[in-house]
Amino acid sequence: MEVLINLGYLVAAVLFILGIKGMTSPKTAVRGNQMSSIGMLLAVIAALVDHNVVSFEYIVIGVLIGGSIGAFMAKKVAMTDMPEMVATLNGIGGGASLLVAAANYLESQKLAEMGKFAVSYDWSIAVILSILIGAVTLTGSFVAVGKLKGKIGDSNKVKLYKWIVKLCFVTLIAGAGYFAVESQLNSDYLILGLIVVCLILGVCLVMPIGGADMPVVVSLLNSYSGLAGAAAGFVLGNNGLIITGSLVGASGIILTSIMCKAMNRSLTNVLFGGSMAATAGVSKSENDAFYDGKVKYSSADELAMLLESAQKVVFVPGYGLAVAQAQHATRELANMLESNGTEVKYAIHPVAGRMPGHMNVLLAEAEVPYDQLVEMDTINPEFSQTDVAIVLGANDVVNPAASKDPASPIFGMPILDVHNAKTVVVVKRGLSPGFAGIPNELFIRENSLMVPGDAKKVLQDTIGALKDL
Ligand code: TAP
Repeated sequence: MEVLINLGYLVAAVLFILGIKGMTSPKTAVRGNQMSSIGMLLAVIAALVDHNVVSFEYIVIGVLIGGSIGAFMAKKVAMTDMPEMVATLNGIGGGASLLVAAANYLESQKLAEMGKFAVSYDWSIAVILSILIGAVTLTGSFVAVGKLKGKIGDSNKVKLYKWIVKLCFVTLIAGAGYFAVESQLNSDYLILGLIVVCLILGVCLVMPIGGADMPVVVSLLNSYSGLAGAAAGFVLGNNGLIITGSLVGASGIILTSIMCKAMNRSLTNVLFGGSMAATAGVSKSENDAFYDGKVKYSSADELAMLLESAQKVVFVPGYGLAVAQAQHATRELANMLESNGTEVKYAIHPVAGRMPGHMNVLLAEAEVPYDQLVEMDTINPEFSQTDVAIVLGANDVVNPAASKDPASPIFGMPILDVHNAKTVVVVKRGLSPGFAGIPNELFIRENSLMVPGDAKKVLQDTIGALKDL
């Protein structure tokens, strides 16, 4: 039976890996997702037939309660709140690993008394890692959720937090080392103390990081939750959990690194550099002075006229498109243009929006054909042959300062070169800056026009105007 169980875990692991591979391209993403789901089903079945299962009643009750809460949350969550949802799930995952390892520690005490368990270094290292990483992930994730929701502001006590973090690290290394080597099964108070220190550490690690950097932190915490899970897998001797945890741990850290690279920032700068928006942002009066009288405003009617004669149009979605939920209106307008013989593409920047793949997911919801979503490096040379580039709620990802101004906080970040298009039409509600908190020279360029308003409303008005032409 054990061979069959391990074979089940192995097949599940292969399906997870193929699933992740599938998710690297929009075309194969759905299949990738299905493969991963089948892998998870197989892993769950293998875990259930495992001889360690003591009571199926609790499992069924747990699945029903957890499954209903998960389904309710997933149904209710808005696309723009997805980072909060992911952060919450990371925290719960970390908390679960903490509880599993703590329960195993208590159970092992009883088994040892009966002479049925012999302590080993492997076991004690796995238990302590699972408990510690799980506890840090738990509180760190909930602070991240608070910051993403705007309930916890950027802190001005950065130095104090850094000192507490250092103190916690020293305590943890000493305490965890003592547990693993010396005290092991006689460590109730030590473990309790270490859990408290880790809960504090999770809070103090995330508190000084700027709210705007939370997506990167969430991705990092995702990696931690995977590592805690893998450690819990070692505690339970469950190969499926070890493999899944390792995959989550590795993919989380790779994603973190991709996000940092696309923002041209190092992970240390994100974690210990304070808030990007808070340090880089300009005041409202500075922002207004930058644009004063230089923006050329246009209207949905004029945009419709421009589009009617355009041969090639590129839509450039950004965070504002998600806020406006304008994906369906975008698709509708694109359909009208295509039926008029216009070539239509969508330019996708890797960190447009607030989470990896944000724009892909949003546009996929409106069933935009995958082959029209073009990655930054491929679309950039095409802008010079584009008649109209329509910037829909994007700002930083099209800011030319990133390549021109060494003093700019986003200098070095790769951008979409929309400024090379014959005409750039920017659709946003006003002149507010984006995530980085800085003005955008694109909006006052010779070839730029701004159509002010909510992206969905402007697109609907443009569709109406095109119908009337
Ligand atoms: P942003 O630079 O954040 O700009 C979004 C713009 O959307 C704002 O200037 C806002 O201007 C406009 N907007 C808001 N609501 C709107 C609505 N209803 N209709 C029309 N416009 C609306 O967005 P971006 O260009 O997508 O750049 C993303 C930024 O987030 C980058 O700096 C990136 O580094 C950062 N970031 C991304 C990620 C990931 S993984 N995607 C992770 C961390 C950080 P108004 O208020 O004037 O309308």
